[in-house]
Amino acid sequence: MELVITSLRLEADGVLGVELRDRDGEKLPEFAPGAHIDVTFPNGLTRQYSISSSASDRARYWLGIGRAKNSRGGSSYAHEKLRIGDSLQVSEPRSLFGLEEDAVGHLFVAGGIGITPILSMIFRCVERGYPWRLLYCVRSRRSAAYLEVLEEYEDHLLLHADEEHEGKADVAAALSSLPPGWHVYTCGPGAMIDAVRGEAKSAGKDGNAIHWERFFADTAAPAAPVHEFNVRLLRHGGSFAIPENRSILEVLEENGVCLPYSCREGLCRSCEVQLVSGEAEHRDYVLSEEERYSNHSILICVSRARCSELVLDV
Ligand code: FES
Repeated sequence: MELVITSLRLEADGVLGVELRDRDGEKLPEFAPGAHIDVTFPNGLTRQYSISSSASDRARYWLGIGRAKNSRGGSSYAHEKLRIGDSLQVSEPRSLFGLEEDAVGHLFVAGGIGITPILSMIFRCVERGYPWRLLYCVRSRRSAAYLEVLEEYEDHLLLHADEEHEGKADVAAALSSLPPGWHVYTCGPGAMIDAVRGEAKSAGKDGNAIHWERFFADTAAPAAPVHEFNVRLLRHGGSFAIPENRSILEVLEENGVCLPYSCREGLCRSCEVQLVSGEAEHRDYVLSEEERYSNHSILICVSRARCSELVLDV
């Protein structure tokens, strides 16, 4: 769909707030708190952004676009070129990170721009009276997007600004004081997500009660060794060698088999296909441990094989 930009504001240092509406004032498609949309900019680049506004407000979507240090043309374009009145191509909302509304309560741990999906979950908690707390970790108050909104809920908010404290936020303390039945949600830098997941497990949280979303691939991690393998397509037919330096998605595209994709970094799940046989070596950031273990599907933009051949339901 095509939506129009009706407001632009600086939500924090390096965070551009973008309000999108239907040009004729029609209601926007429903979404679940935590959902995101794909936005295609006039320069042809498509990026995923979480919807930060309340899911009960169908008049608008708020997006918070953080300016990436090493922008590959998406966030820098948004910050420099977008103007009120511009139109943007936007996908239907998709949900990979959402609120478990049956949980007893909800602890959110947001790092920087990771507040963007969490804000819509907080709105849902406020509107429905669910118990919640937020540990919001930022470099400084100036870099904390939506702080004005969140400060209305000061009894629920613990802000950790690096420049005001020595050391990192005490994630372990936030988790150890959690009442039974609460779920944990985290979004932000990869190291913070890993720390929250680790502490939540140490605090006895079940894997199903821990939810996370990554915005960036972990480029700091050393690349694991790779080997060549074959991919066979069950319905389309054909067998393709996947060399060490190419992804399954790239090789299939080069051979005229074009499948859906979006981020190409293992972050969005658009390229997921069902596995018929073979063991995947999962390199994505979104499948749960159970999903990895079940070996039912694979994200073909980044994941590879632990064996000599994968058969895909394609
Ligand atoms: S294209 Fe986003 S996970 Fe593969």
